[in-house]
Amino acid sequence: MRVDIALRGERLSRSFGQGAMQTIALDDVSLSIEAGELALLMGPSGSGKSTLLAVLSGLLRPDSGRVVSLGNDLWTLNETEREQFRLQYCGFIFQGYNLFSALTARQQIEMVVRWGEGASPREARRRADEVLSLLGMSRRAHLRPVELSGGEKQRVAIGRALVKNPRLVFADEPTSALDWSHGEQVIELLRAAAHDRGATVLIVSHDSRTIPFADHVYHLEDGRLQHQDESSVAVLNHQGQLLPYPTSR
Ligand SMILES: Nc1ncnc2c1ncn2[C@@H]1O[C@H](COP(=O)(O)OP(=O)(O)OP(=O)(O)O)[C@@H](O)[C@H]1O
Ligand SMILES: [Mg+2]
Repeated sequence: MRVDIALRGERLSRSFGQGAMQTIALDDVSLSIEAGELALLMGPSGSGKSTLLAVLSGLLRPDSGRVVSLGNDLWTLNETEREQFRLQYCGFIFQGYNLFSALTARQQIEMVVRWGEGASPREARRRADEVLSLLGMSRRAHLRPVELSGGEKQRVAIGRALVKNPRLVFADEPTSALDWSHGEQVIELLRAAAHDRGATVLIVSHDSRTIPFADHVYHLEDGRLQHQDESSVAVLNHQGQLLPYPTSR
């Protein structure tokens, strides 16, 4: 069977600072994620999850190693090409939401469709309303970030990332501000992006309730990766209980 690897990281390392102050955020990390797969990246605070997401998505240059994304050797592209690649193929959900304070929830999402795809205002509005409805945000569509709760802002950020149907989705703690009914809705949307549309979805999460939704769970510890295989995820699914992570493989 041909396996379609959409995103591959090879021997990635990244540190911050120098000398005695140096932090090794990523230490020789390799992983491969297939198209149509939802991968979950877990690990304690400071273990390098956001750093890995940034390196794999073309936002942060690794000190060494390679990222191959949809067949492109990402860190050999020049900055303009990489920016273009991100615009065309990637949807991002950041830890801090990054919403525009002057725009309503609906406008934040419309903007992506209008400027990203050159869609008409009417089409942008239709697509934005569709996504807002999936996120349970229809009645909040006219509000600006300052008028929205943390969880509502998070859902707008998720809508903005998904509305362009990106082939790659990078989400850093997408459910952190949500109660579980909304969190589950969001994970279901991300899973549908992977399983129904063939997108490649990489989620960073502390939330163990997201585990049963994942095709693969990766665990980072001090910048090093441990891979939890599918069979243990299946056990989790079946019993609905969480088992301790293996500490090495
Ligand atoms: N810009 C930076 N400058 C210096 N150190 C950094 C920088 N970014 C990350 N680090 C360090 O690298 C390590 C990994 O950070 P990272 O943000 O990837 O962790 P994380 O797993 O995402 O944590 P959290 O769950 O708290 O978000 C940490 O020790 C952090 O202090
Ligand atoms: Mg982080």
